[in-house]
Amino acid sequence: MIIVSPSILSADFANLSSELQVMKNAGAPWAHVDVMDGHFVPNISIGVPVVASLRKATDLFLDVHLMIDTPIKYAENFCKAGADYITIHIEADTRENIRKILELIRSLGVKPGIVVKPKTPAEAIAEYLPMVDMVLVMTVEPGFGGQKFMPSSIAKCEYLSRKKQELGLDELIIEVDGGISAANARLLFDAGAEALVAGSSVFGAENQEQAIIDMLNS
Ligand code: DX5
Ligand code: ZN
Repeated sequence: MIIVSPSILSADFANLSSELQVMKNAGAPWAHVDVMDGHFVPNISIGVPVVASLRKATDLFLDVHLMIDTPIKYAENFCKAGADYITIHIEADTRENIRKILELIRSLGVKPGIVVKPKTPAEAIAEYLPMVDMVLVMTVEPGFGGQKFMPSSIAKCEYLSRKKQELGLDELIIEVDGGISAANARLLFDAGAEALVAGSSVFGAENQEQAIIDMLNS
């Protein structure tokens, strides 16, 4: 399975409905939604009401990436707003709370995921793999679109791919996020990634639909 999840962080926020339609027409099954609180990352983006509105506007899977402190406070509201996947950062809370939130997300009928920043080793999330539907490997420091891909993330995808096989977690999706385009998509697929998040390479392209198609075909 190969999935492109365009990040609406680089889309035109005044025209999200039509941007979602472009994504759908190009064959992207998901929309990646970056939630930033100005504390966990040095930037502010969007919150629960926007996710609720996106839910009404599209049947694309909403892949919600929470870059926020104390996600335990807000996860339930994002579930109720209509997220399909919710990924939380391992760096954002205690190990005990991380477990609690993952369980809470699943109990609300939403698919839980766990994310690692570039400086966090992939081994740190190994214990959560049987609890989640997705692991997200950041391939840039979270906070901003348009940054350069960090090649050190390749080894992390390979490690997680090996773990996935060892544990027989066939349904677990490995996602990557940051600096991704058709130029490095193949490298990431070969390392075991199946879902590619792409913001600026899609919404900054002259032909957005073609940019998505090129990634899917790479
Ligand atoms: C960065 C976000 C990414 C971002 C990716 O903190 O998590 O999802 O939108 O943007 P590009 O593809 O431009 O690196
Ligand atoms: Zn993201």
